[in-house]
Amino acid sequence: MATRPPALQIERVQLDTLHLDPANARAHGERNLAAIRNSLERFGQQKPIVVDAKGGVVAGNGTLEAARQLGWKTISVVRTSLAGQERVAFAIADNRSAELAAWDPDNLEAALSTLDADLRELVDINDEELRRIAEAPPPSDELGDGDNGDAEDHAGALAESFGAPPFSILDARQGWWQRRKSGWIGLGIQSELGRGCNALDFSSAAQRFGFKRGDRPGLMMHGQDSLNRLLRGRNRAAAVPGGNVGKNSCWLGSDSKPAVETGLSGTSIFDPVLCELVYRWFCPPGGLVVDPFAGGSVRGIVAARLGRHYTGIDLREEQVAANEKQAATICRSGIMPRWLVGDSRDVATLALGKYDLLFSCPPYGSLEVYGDDPRDLSNMSWPAFCKAYRAIILASAQLLKPDRFACFVVGNFRRADGGYNDLVAETCRAFEAGGLAFYNEAVLVTVCGSLPLRVRAQFEGSRKLGKSHQNILIFVKGDPRRATAACGECAFGRLETEPLPGEPGGGS
Ligand SMILES: C[S@@+](CC[C@H](N)C(=O)[O-])C[C@H]1O[C@@H](n2cnc3c(N)ncnc32)[C@H](O)[C@@H]1O
Repeated sequence: MATRPPALQIERVQLDTLHLDPANARAHGERNLAAIRNSLERFGQQKPIVVDAKGGVVAGNGTLEAARQLGWKTISVVRTSLAGQERVAFAIADNRSAELAAWDPDNLEAALSTLDADLRELVDINDEELRRIAEAPPPSDELGDGDNGDAEDHAGALAESFGAPPFSILDARQGWWQRRKSGWIGLGIQSELGRGCNALDFSSAAQRFGFKRGDRPGLMMHGQDSLNRLLRGRNRAAAVPGGNVGKNSCWLGSDSKPAVETGLSGTSIFDPVLCELVYRWFCPPGGLVVDPFAGGSVRGIVAARLGRHYTGIDLREEQVAANEKQAATICRSGIMPRWLVGDSRDVATLALGKYDLLFSCPPYGSLEVYGDDPRDLSNMSWPAFCKAYRAIILASAQLLKPDRFACFVVGNFRRADGGYNDLVAETCRAFEAGGLAFYNEAVLVTVCGSLPLRVRAQFEGSRKLGKSHQNILIFVKGDPRRATAACGECAFGRLETEPLPGEPGGGS
């Protein structure tokens, strides 16, 4: 029969009979001590500290120090008989096990919102920290990295064959996805460069709110609701109406560190891992890609690294210049992506040729405004947008070889009255008018970012759900089986572990 461990005996002892562990591997800074003091004062001591027979603290050094600072005379302890290495290991494990846990951002946000102001202050998690918690990728052991039975095994085998399981939900929140994305960005991709959005000095409103030329934005938030809320609320000083950035956009916070370093960017950057999958799944090796709304450098650089020949068109010279500069560094040896400046309504003459993949991410109406050029679709009313958009899709579809795929990444977006402009449907209609069939639809689940901070007000006020996905629309021109044959076999290892193309052992 198993022996029951003895129950812990709690003793109340004089503080001056105890001493801190001089070899404590954990440092307690002033903020930490203040938090412990506040907690002890408000709640009293709710759990004992762990000490050895001679009163040396094994776990709870911070609590003892804070109690001393508060002038306490006695404290509750439990005695441990652990000694030597075991004592040292327990002291480390006691801290490490807490450190390995992660916050559940939704539950944390929900719990914090139930607290009165004084308790909210006592727990000492500020808005910036809350935002960082919300943006942190979940720990990898919660992301299907572990053994979760048969379904996991099947997904693993699929990933082994196709890079990632070819399901209609692609989850960019997964740990491996985020790591791979960081790998791509680490090559020097700065897809946010060349975008007017970075230049907050575009916006006189930005200056009104204290931003200087060269300041980097933090998060961009869309929608008049969030803008109004921020302007009303405690983040007023950090909220910047978008000006040229976008009618309904505002910036939350500013950060002098580069976006790549902080993981934050005010601009929406195309996901390089999605890019990689699209090329590997839908474009033959060595194939030609045409992109009528190039924007940043991602699609071009990833194409080149994967041995695909990319031609992107963008209205803005500064965007093309920024992309070319990055490609010159990143794609030094091998294929170079090509960017052309021009209006994609002229795609047929600008990018004359026959292509193996049509791949793009258009402006989502005027959600983000890219420049002042009246030919820029993001400057247009919704009806004018639809007309120009359709013309560009029709002309681009003409450039696609028969029996090939097209992929557009889009998202529906809200009008001023709160209803949706259906960009997904508009895209499908335009492609169908161009003679292509709507063939696959997938959802890219994106990192929540600031969503947990925003969703409460928008949901409570108007039952708007927090949008954390984009739509990946795949079309086929001609016969899907022949298009598949043209792409060749999908034979590569899982992206989770494969080196990046062009890196040692990574191939292309
Ligand atoms: C959604 S952005 C592309 C974002 C891109 N995914 C990225 O990573 O930067 C759309 C791009 O379309 C460009 N654009 C808008 N109207 C255009 C037009 N008529 N012809 C060519 N490019 C246009 C804008 O300049 C902008 O860079």
